[in-house]
Amino acid sequence: MAQALEKNSVVAVIGSGAMGSGIAQVAAVAGHTVRLFDTRPEAVERAIAGIVKALARLVEKGRMGAAEADLARERLHAMRTLDEAKDAALVVEAVVEDLDVKRALFADLEGVVGPDCILATNTSSISVTAIGATLKRPERLVGMHFFNPVPLMALVEVISGVATDKAVADTVHATASAWGKNPVHAKSTPGFIVNRVARPYYAEALRLLLEQAADPATIDAVMRDCGGFRMGPFELMDLIGHDVNYSVTQSVFNAYYGDPRFAPSVVQQELVNAGFLGRKTGRGFYRYGDDVAMPQA
Ligand code: NAI
Repeated sequence: MAQALEKNSVVAVIGSGAMGSGIAQVAAVAGHTVRLFDTRPEAVERAIAGIVKALARLVEKGRMGAAEADLARERLHAMRTLDEAKDAALVVEAVVEDLDVKRALFADLEGVVGPDCILATNTSSISVTAIGATLKRPERLVGMHFFNPVPLMALVEVISGVATDKAVADTVHATASAWGKNPVHAKSTPGFIVNRVARPYYAEALRLLLEQAADPATIDAVMRDCGGFRMGPFELMDLIGHDVNYSVTQSVFNAYYGDPRFAPSVVQQELVNAGFLGRKTGRGFYRYGDDVAMPQA
């Protein structure tokens, strides 16, 4: 059986938004030294402040000891330049959902990290094969796809591209297990497992909205309270972020040669145009304030 990465080895997380901060928290709690980077240094500051708050809440609720939380905080470090990832055993990329940006980032990382470092992408939908294709050593690139919010969601999809080394995927699978997650191996197909199966959940809800069947709050309530889903489609899209969800929809749509089943919605596009990206900007289908969801369409 594959071994997980050493507990105290270095994990670099590139991109400190919703996903990067959650991944950093989970890796630090699991015992790794974590280095966080973002092209916007204020995003790293915000991520670390958010993690400190999240750890304090866990202590308050009795789910974590104060000493354990302090140790996790001490393991978190802001990176000023990518060069500081040079001692990483694993780099997890969680930047914007754009193939060119991800390829450019991994090309830079190849020039920084050591030969045994594993490169992982948290992409929701872009082909891991395509991200790896421009690398000198595509066999060490693997998808490590977490779900939002990372500290709460157990599933991790470990995605192998055509060139991914099986041992690399196995190490990442074992590492995700050691972090308390529930990993599953999958091949690099458009949307992987969850985002593929979830596409109609969003797409049909958006069609219902365009057909004026009901408003988002009603559709959400029906799916949540009567349908047994943890979240309704509109509140879930607000949580994911409309920029991210729109990119994922486009990427699956393009990958399936424009199959109309996967067509993006103009509603999503207009929310992105308006900058109403969901919870992270305080407004999407709903308005939000002070960390509390206030559903008002
Ligand atoms: P986000 O918008 O919250 O954060 C992205 C961060 O990356 C921003 O802080 C941005 O400044 C930074 N960034 C952009 N380009 C960069 C670069 N070249 N180098 C370093 N930092 C850079 O986005 P989020 O939601 O955290 O998504 C990140 C990735 O995770 C995307 O690939 C997305 O598809 C994936 N993902 C998102 C999920 C979600 O529910 N939001 C779920 C699972 C995966």
